Order: sequence, then C-alpha cells, then structure tokens
Amino acid sequence: MSQDDKKTAAARAALAYVEDGMRLGIGTGSTAEAFVRLLAEKVGDGINVTGVPTSERTARLCVELGVPLATLDEMPRLDLTVDGADEIDPQLNLTKGGGGALLREKIVAHASEMLVIIADDSKLVPALGAFPLPIEVNPFGLEATRQSIVDAYTELGQSGEVRLRVRDGQPFETDGGHLILDASFGHISDPKALSDALHAIPGVVEHGMFIGMATLAVVAGSDGVRTLEA
Ligand code: 5RP
Repeated sequence: MSQDDKKTAAARAALAYVEDGMRLGIGTGSTAEAFVRLLAEKVGDGINVTGVPTSERTARLCVELGVPLATLDEMPRLDLTVDGADEIDPQLNLTKGGGGALLREKIVAHASEMLVIIADDSKLVPALGAFPLPIEVNPFGLEATRQSIVDAYTELGQSGEVRLRVRDGQPFETDGGHLILDASFGHISDPKALSDALHAIPGVVEHGMFIGMATLAVVAGSDGVRTLEA
C-alpha cells in the first residue's frame, strides 16, 4: 500500500464522523486534500455541510470541487475539524505546520468541538521533535526572535538550530503574512514547557505543537486503519 493510499484510507475513515448539517473545519496538506476530495463526493450525493478552510490552498480546492465554505467570522463555532499532522505522539500531541498553515489550523481547531487527525502510520512517533518544529513569526525583528527561540531551547537543555523557511529562493510567507522558522532540536522532552517558553517571545505568533487538542487520530497502515484516542 503506497503512502498516498494510506492517506486516502485515513481520509475515507474520517468521513464516518461527518454528519448532515455539520460545521466543518477543513485542514491543509496532502492528507487533508484527500479528505476534501472525498467530502466533495458526499456533497455531490446531497450531504449538507459548510466548511471553514485552514488555508487559501484548501479554500481553492474546496471551491474547485464545490464544497460550500464560510469564514470563521461567519461561523465561529465548529462541530468538527479534520486535519493532517507531521507527528503524532502516544498522547496525541502533534507537530503541525509542515505546509505552513499552523496558525489558521490552530485557530480553527480551537473553535471546534472535535479535532480528528488523519494520517498515514509514518506520522506516529514515540515523542515529538524528529520533524523540525515550525514556528510562525512576525517579520519585524526576525533575527532577534530567532535568537530568543534558540535561547528558549538552550534554557530547556536542548541544542540545535533555527532556520528561516525558504521556498523558490524567497522567504516562505504564510497566509497571514508571517514567516516560518523551523527549529531542529531533536526530541522535545517537555512540550508544555517549550510551548510556554515560545509563547513568551513577543515575535512568535504561534508554534506548531498542538498539545491536548486532538480528540482522536485515524491512522492508516498496511494492515488497515486504526483509531487512536487520547
Ligand atoms: C500543514 C500541516 C499538515 O497537516 C501537515 O504538514 C501534514 O501534511 P501532509 O498531510 O501533506 O503530510 O500541518 O500546515
């Protein structure tokens, strides 16, 4: 079974949580896009749902496929968000932001009663941190913020590096006009302490750890689809 097949299998299994009339948060990334394609088929079959996309990229796909959309301001409380992840630990803490949409993803997830994560089994990890942590930052004072992030990790006893995300030779800009710093410091021993330290840095808009936010994860492997609960 290919990785794409696993992503589609997880996305298909997550459709079981979608009910008529639901207000849906719709994630970003290749797994979330598999979900959008399957959701669009259900919309074609007559299910009535309204989605809030977590990125302009997801919004474009929804429009193309005919999934009805609203803004989070129009629909500030959501029943369910379905999204992907870069890492999932045994407590269902997540790393997200590989696609650069972490801020909108976190805002939408926070507005949702349930957050269902869909992933292939390569995303399961014993502890967060092998994947560089995406940190969304304000462009003003970028270097000062970068150094403060290094200091925050150092105070927690971790060493590594923080790199500005670049795409096509230019700094990657998020939908909110911010930049992404990717922090590679290995195993995160205390996600909550790191989260608090990062939130204390004024230039940090948000980081990609989603701690205690996921309701469940639907994970596909070669042996089938498993549902993991926190
Ligand atoms: C985007 C994300 C994605 O959900 C995450 O990167 C997983 O992407 P994919 O499904 O393509 O592996 O957090 O900001």
